[in-house]
Amino acid sequence: MEHSKLINGKSIDLGVCYYPEHWDRSLWAKDLDRMLTAGLKTVRIAEFAWSLIEPREGEYTYEFFDSFLDLAQEKGMQVIFCTPTATPPAWLTEKYPETLNADMDGNLFRHGSRRHYNYNSPIYRKLCRNIVEKSASHYAQHPAIVGWQLDNEFNCENDTFYSDSDTLAFRHFLQKRYVNLEELNKAWGTVFWNQTYTDWQEVYVPRKTNTNSPNPHHLLDYYRFISDSVCSFAKEQADIIRKYRKKGDFITTNGMFGNIDYQRLERESLDVLMYDSYPNFAYCLDGFNPLDPMKDRHWSKNLAEVRAVSPVFGIMEQQSGANGWNTRMEAPTPRPGQMTLWTMQSIAHGADYVSYFRWRTCTFGTEIYWHGILDYSGRENRRLKEVTQIARKVEALQEVAGSAYQARVGILKDYDNIWDSRVDRWHERVEAVSQNGLFTALQQAHVPFDYVYMENHTTSESLKQYQVLFYPHASILTAERIALLEQYVAQGGKLVMGCRTGYKDLNGRCVMDHLPGLAAKVTGADIPEYSFVAPDDGTVMVDWNGVQVEAAVFNDLLAPVSENAKVLATYVSSYYAGTPALICNSFGQGEAYYFGGAFTADTAAVFLEKLGVAEPWSRVLDLPTSCELAVRQGECKTYLFVLNYLSEPAEITLKEEVADLLEGGQISGCIQVEGYRAKVFAL
Ligand code: GAL
Repeated sequence: MEHSKLINGKSIDLGVCYYPEHWDRSLWAKDLDRMLTAGLKTVRIAEFAWSLIEPREGEYTYEFFDSFLDLAQEKGMQVIFCTPTATPPAWLTEKYPETLNADMDGNLFRHGSRRHYNYNSPIYRKLCRNIVEKSASHYAQHPAIVGWQLDNEFNCENDTFYSDSDTLAFRHFLQKRYVNLEELNKAWGTVFWNQTYTDWQEVYVPRKTNTNSPNPHHLLDYYRFISDSVCSFAKEQADIIRKYRKKGDFITTNGMFGNIDYQRLERESLDVLMYDSYPNFAYCLDGFNPLDPMKDRHWSKNLAEVRAVSPVFGIMEQQSGANGWNTRMEAPTPRPGQMTLWTMQSIAHGADYVSYFRWRTCTFGTEIYWHGILDYSGRENRRLKEVTQIARKVEALQEVAGSAYQARVGILKDYDNIWDSRVDRWHERVEAVSQNGLFTALQQAHVPFDYVYMENHTTSESLKQYQVLFYPHASILTAERIALLEQYVAQGGKLVMGCRTGYKDLNGRCVMDHLPGLAAKVTGADIPEYSFVAPDDGTVMVDWNGVQVEAAVFNDLLAPVSENAKVLATYVSSYYAGTPALICNSFGQGEAYYFGGAFTADTAAVFLEKLGVAEPWSRVLDLPTSCELAVRQGECKTYLFVLNYLSEPAEITLKEEVADLLEGGQISGCIQVEGYRAKVFAL
């Protein structure tokens, strides 16, 4: 990315999504001028515009985007050009209905909305290779272009695929994985309920079953298959663009959605990942929870997920107006200051490019309520003024470009467990509580954290930068992953595991072993018995040296089995009162903790305190729980972002003198952060 015009470690830039095809050509020049005046220097175009390049099969016309690109060049506007494969044209789906996605009953999703295709139809693949070849070979050398977006939001709207093309491809995927049906039958435990397959023709993508409960091992492989389909679809496009692009032009896509191994997608096809950030959905009629202390701060979780793929990344779509379709969703207009706050939230987490969605609100179609910066008329408004002010603020942040988010706490993840928790309700229940609980506690104790994915190439060296790693409910464990964790702990790391660890293999089958299976050695723990928290037990509490914490959802009843294993806490509720609930095992230079429950926010907060990682920047500043602290580390300076998510001002205390990047000058002592605003300090 060094030679790239965006996200190159040298600047932080703003842009906007634009649809030249939605407007009369006479508006283009003025629109571009106004964007540039506001400080928006890049536009993304063409992601849904297949018919403007290939109006009929095999007929190509380049004039439309040639004129737009020439104008952009003349004005000095940079362009991210997209492949248009998220919306196949009517001529295509009419002639080749096998290219359409289907619901679980096999009913096709017809032309008329978007993302109606499947990744596996050979004819769709061919037509996509063709349109990408035609677009890239024609447009790639245009000087206005600085990067390419593949498709638009892989797996948005739908992350499951049930067409006949998918079934055929699924069979190939399984043949490669298992070679013969015997192995597949074993892996999926098909002897249960007489599901044994005798011919590959009998194997399908999951279909409607009585009880709505398909074989879980089948489902787990199906999610792996979808990810594989997305990755190979994307790679075909990326390979073509790589042949034609100018030096320094990047390839990206915008996400993130379900059933995709984004680390693999990036490795094979992207230079950088971009994210579409709509934090105001925390205030959406359908999703508003007044009791949730995080609300739009939840988007920091999503940004941390993007960072786990691209340490420095981009935002392709940053919310800039009220949002909704005419059929669903109602999110209010950002209040004065919120666009600034959310832009800073993105930058704080590692975005060096932020592009707003969209320039002017569309006057027709499903997204007439998905507002852009401007309303239908295009008149000057408050949001455009705020964008202009944001651009000025971003100018003051240029030295932050390229710096990496700094975290000493990590939450371990892997796709096997992510997808298993989608298949398995018991797994999903504990995971949901702990992911939310850990995130909330980390936010409120101002602990910057990373998601850390366990991949084939992950080393204990790369884990070493984290003082504490939570791996909350790794139901599926592998010998490789546990070996890595043993090394991490032996070298001095602190590993925290929660209930339901280690009881499944890679196929999602339960292991015939004492639990926590492969994790027994590092944790020094044994689980002679376990249970869901019984509804009539209410809240199950644990006593940890006089501090009462909840062991939510599920309880592993523990026993120490290694010499170095100490019982730190015991249950105080239910028939298992007095039984160990938390064990700490000294292992080499480090310690592994096994906790018998799921982590609520209050429970996780106690772990952060006791493990000595809460408030890691308290030497420099004190801030209220309503503010987020995010940290980016440059070559010689540390940047502290303080984000105030409330409408009222927040009071913070700076205990040493720091540079105020946005306002200029040095400051210390008690200061106020305005409602919905951010402060950026350098030290
Ligand atoms: C995104 C998408 C945009 C736009 C917006 C509103 O998911 O990438 O194209 O549709 O949401 O739905």
